[in-house]
Amino acid sequence: MVIGIMGALHEELAGMLEAMPDERRQQVAGRTFWCGRWQGQEVVAVLSRVGKVAAATTATALIERFGVNQIVFTGVAGGIGQEVRVGDVVVANGFVQHDMDASPLFARHEVPLYGRTVFETDVALSSQLAHAARDVLADVGRHVQAQSVQAFALQRAQCHQGLVATGDRFVSSSAECRALQQALPQALAVEMEGAAVAQVCFDYGVPFAALRTISDRADDDAHTDFGRFVTEVASHYSVAVLSQWLRQLT
Ligand code: ADE
Repeated sequence: MVIGIMGALHEELAGMLEAMPDERRQQVAGRTFWCGRWQGQEVVAVLSRVGKVAAATTATALIERFGVNQIVFTGVAGGIGQEVRVGDVVVANGFVQHDMDASPLFARHEVPLYGRTVFETDVALSSQLAHAARDVLADVGRHVQAQSVQAFALQRAQCHQGLVATGDRFVSSSAECRALQQALPQALAVEMEGAAVAQVCFDYGVPFAALRTISDRADDDAHTDFGRFVTEVASHYSVAVLSQWLRQLT
């Protein structure tokens, strides 16, 4: 069993790679793939890059060239569900492309020729990840410095499971956020890669799950603390959740 781990952020992969003593690098399609063992599992870790096309290329290379049997994605997202706050985690149960619109030929958001709008994630894998995320959030002070726990009010952080919307836009205005909420009332979060990876995994029959830490509310303030949040919170969550999940597989 080879597990593909895609990270959207350099900081997340750095933490993971430090814990992979036997890691070997391989270059494919201009990307660096790190192959090795982590928590006793054979893994291939790679930066997805940003946006749907880049993420789809990366996922395809993971499957075709590295023979991964499953893919887990970790990164940040903007919270658009009413109850979804900065510091919470969303484990996706499915992905929709919010910028897909081939109407009037096909229904809005439907991916032409697939006859579907939503690409579901693997149920068992997602529930394992959600379990690991809840464990980490229950003891957040063990993974994130007290100052950041305070600054981002992480004491009340929760793990949600639901629909995630993907598109080639960083959503950073309250007006756009409201439009998204109206168009996709069930969506909990918005990001830029997940639906592309979900579609590639669907095509190849590879189980897929994704974990997104909420870095912002996709509104006029979306960019304010973004860098600081990624370094101080999201990168630590990912390493903690993924290592906890992999440990449980052994
Ligand atoms: N990733 C993190 N925050 C985001 C946002 N507001 N829009 C799109 N992708 C994101």
